[in-house]
Amino acid sequence: MPPGTGSFAAFARKKVAAAETAALEPFKTIADNSASLALEAIGSEFTDALLDGQFFQSPVPRDSIPSFSLVFVQSRDGNTEADNPSTLGGGETDKHVIYEGLSRVAADAVLAGAKSIGAGILSVWHPALAALRGALGKPRHPFQIVMTARGELPIEEGLLFNVSEIPVIILSSGRPAARLAEQCRSRPWITVIGTSEPSDLRRGAERLRIEHGIQRISAIGGRSAATALIDAGLVSDLYLTTSAIRAGVPDTPLYTGTRPPLRELVVRKESPDGVVFEHFVLSLP
Ligand SMILES: NC(=O)c1ccc[n+]([C@@H]2O[C@H](COP(=O)([O-])OP(=O)(O)OC[C@H]3O[C@@H](n4cnc5c(N)ncnc54)[C@H](OP(=O)(O)O)[C@@H]3O)[C@@H](O)[C@H]2O)c1
Repeated sequence: MPPGTGSFAAFARKKVAAAETAALEPFKTIADNSASLALEAIGSEFTDALLDGQFFQSPVPRDSIPSFSLVFVQSRDGNTEADNPSTLGGGETDKHVIYEGLSRVAADAVLAGAKSIGAGILSVWHPALAALRGALGKPRHPFQIVMTARGELPIEEGLLFNVSEIPVIILSSGRPAARLAEQCRSRPWITVIGTSEPSDLRRGAERLRIEHGIQRISAIGGRSAATALIDAGLVSDLYLTTSAIRAGVPDTPLYTGTRPPLRELVVRKESPDGVVFEHFVLSLP
């Protein structure tokens, strides 16, 4: 039997408990260029205290494309791949306040490559962050978007595909789109958007906004999905946490392409244990 609402309730209880009991170390601001950039600020008393100031995001573009941000943790030596990204050493504040918090608190959708969807639902869990999401007028959980080319997704057994109250969109390049749509016919909360070829990502993004009203997307990677989004010129913000330890699979930087984006620093913050959080605004070279 596929997992459903009961499994989701248990999963959600665990996530909330982990967030509530985490020891959250505050960051200190080292550099702040936010005043010179046209960005939106979000935060609450709770998050401002932990981040030593507000969190920023680019405004949603005026055209028909949603705003995309990327949120990544890398080891001190720049690696992003690990079976469990927590072992990269980003720490609890990064995980509960930035990754599962501010980077997605205003997002209509969270997006992941097929290899990074994990075993759960991608959402906001700390009660203070969930309250902030509510205050911003967002539904409790964002849309779940999965990118795939091969179309081999765990539709039957994956929790993400089996919680009827949380909508899922599969962005599928290539031929598997029609097969996936057929496979998901008994799950009306799942929509398949075919993007023909990977280069049609922009068209897929446009359909997310026009057909589903998705204006802001928080993409969690991994690096091949991130590179495709960057190369398509879709990503405006990068939230990058760099740990103080050497870890991860060697030679796995977050960008794998040939035209690394230009980065403009918005803020840089550091925790007492040497974890650095940086927000960059990205543009194509
Ligand atoms: N450090 C971090 O913050 C972080 C974040 C996320 C993940 N990770 C780690 O990163 C690793 C996975 O990264 P990854 O780069 O191997 O995989 P990934 O980006 O998560 O997923 C790759 C898959 O996404 C699909 N995909 C990518 N580009 C696409 C495009 N343009 N159109 C359609 N589908 C596309 C393909 O799916 P199909 O194979 O189905 O065709 C591809 O195989 C894991 O170790 C994970 O734990 C780290």
